[in-house]
Amino acid sequence: MERIAIYPGSFDPVTNGHVDIVERGLILFDRIIVTILHNPNKKSLFSVEERLELLQMTMTDFNHRVEVDCFDGLLVEYASRRGAQAILRGMRAVSDFEYEFQLALMNRKLNRDVQTVFLMTGLRWIFTSSSIIKEAARFGGDIADMVPPVVHRRLVEKLGQCPPGA
Ligand code: PNS
Repeated sequence: MERIAIYPGSFDPVTNGHVDIVERGLILFDRIIVTILHNPNKKSLFSVEERLELLQMTMTDFNHRVEVDCFDGLLVEYASRRGAQAILRGMRAVSDFEYEFQLALMNRKLNRDVQTVFLMTGLRWIFTSSSIIKEAARFGGDIADMVPPVVHRRLVEKLGQCPPGA
């Protein structure tokens, strides 16, 4: 049986930390479906279409083993619809734990057949998040080595002309 994981997230935008998790996930799973889902607690900078395009361009190196998709609804419903046995999430510092624990237990309550698998990001990405990268970029900080080159270009296009605080 093919082992399939859904790697869900906001991906606003995709970072090198996300790519690191996909690389690690491919050691465990035959295929990974990277899926943009709506997080009701976050306001996004990039539209779903823009995020999808950035993810597609970033994941080309993985060829047929990584698919990129988006879905509006419950994650566990999407996972069973796609025949996935697992939800893959990256874990960085301890601060991630409480939210991830809650999400995993809610997903388990909603569907006991889908397991959540946590992978630790590489040490290099332990403090990397889309939110902190956007904040640094908004104020002109150099985040070039934290995101794929195409994402860096789009961030500069979107935020580069903004005066700090705009
Ligand atoms: O990258 P994020 O923002 O931490 O990802 C969170 C995400 C999108 C995976 C989460 O909000 C999610 O699963 N949203 C879809 C709705 C859902 O199924 N929520 C979990 C059970 S309430």
